[in-house]
Amino acid sequence: MTTSPNCKTVLVTGATGFIGSHTVVELLEAGYRVRMVDNLCNSEASVLERIERIAHEHLTHDPKRLGFWPVDVRDSQALEALLASEPIDGVIHFAGLKAVGESFSQAPNYWDNNVGGTMALTQAMAKAHVKRLVFSSSATVYGQAASLPVSEDAPTQVTNPYGRTKLVCEQFLTDWCHASGDGQVALLRYFNPVGAHPSALIGEAPRGVPNNLMPFVTQVAAGIRPALSIFGRDYPTRDGTCIRDYIHVSDLARGHVATMAAMLGLGPHAVTSPDIEPSTQNGPIQTLSGLTVMNFGTGQGVSVQELVDTFERVTGQRVPTLDAPRRQGDVAELYANPQRAHTLLNWRATQTLESMCRDAWAWQSSLP
Ligand code: WQD
Repeated sequence: MTTSPNCKTVLVTGATGFIGSHTVVELLEAGYRVRMVDNLCNSEASVLERIERIAHEHLTHDPKRLGFWPVDVRDSQALEALLASEPIDGVIHFAGLKAVGESFSQAPNYWDNNVGGTMALTQAMAKAHVKRLVFSSSATVYGQAASLPVSEDAPTQVTNPYGRTKLVCEQFLTDWCHASGDGQVALLRYFNPVGAHPSALIGEAPRGVPNNLMPFVTQVAAGIRPALSIFGRDYPTRDGTCIRDYIHVSDLARGHVATMAAMLGLGPHAVTSPDIEPSTQNGPIQTLSGLTVMNFGTGQGVSVQELVDTFERVTGQRVPTLDAPRRQGDVAELYANPQRAHTLLNWRATQTLESMCRDAWAWQSSLP
């Protein structure tokens, strides 16, 4: 696909990370030009080559469709230079630290990365008059929601430093958006992203001991770790283990593309095809203006034990488990009401828990 002169350019921070890399793939496949930024503190530069392999047909005609800058978002000078080097139509900001448990012992680092990084990025954006921002937020801002499924207007109550940094970023970006006058900001509250691209070329690659459930499960299945500790079987849930809303990372990535398209007033494809009016693609497209908060989840709750059982059934791999004490900061049950994203974006999660487990295992099996 050649790049149309009106092809849109999106800058993605945290672009070699788990959700960032999957979103870059979906942006390229939707026709966008992408500028990747990552400090590689929690990901590998080799992800870039894998993205190029997945999206090769979109890059063959126009190698300029994809660029990578090994930059930390807190480096204002580097970001200002990048934003001044070419027109950027919108920014998707993933860069940040994201482990609930770890954030208690590393709170200052979480504030510096997550809050400091967001402020530095938006200052550089303002200088370049870039006013469209999609922000990677988290369902952890809800804490233990009083009623489920949880909607965006539910009260926020954070139970850990990671969640606190996400909530503070949301509050800062709300003020930033209103102060800019014509800014467009989307705060996307992810539930639990899991799985991997079906090619098994990109996936979740935590360094050291995984904090999150699915990568720990796949490492136990691969024999890298002896057993999965289940953090608490005494929660007030149907089987005593915590319930979460697991969403396939590719579904989540497509939600980011849909959000950017709605901000730009486009259909689901970046390049406004001269013969197809955006408004006619997949139903009426509403342009997102001002501040929008959206839940990105499936709307289905799944327990830790149910995920383990599904993983074993789908992959044929055994996952030995140990009963362990509850983990600090965990809530018993949390799953989304995703209706607002359905309505505003015509987006919904399509992948099943089975495909999340299958793709996560294929990715783990591809690793050396
Ligand atoms: C899920 C469940 C654990 C590991 C956080 C963030 C969220 C998102 C995902 C960024 C919990 C249990 C886990 C293990 C276990 N981050 N568990 N044994 O804490 O729901 O969400 O990570 O995108 O923003 O809030 O995800 O995968 O860590 O835990 O029993 O070895 O699995 O107790 O109930 P969490 P998680």
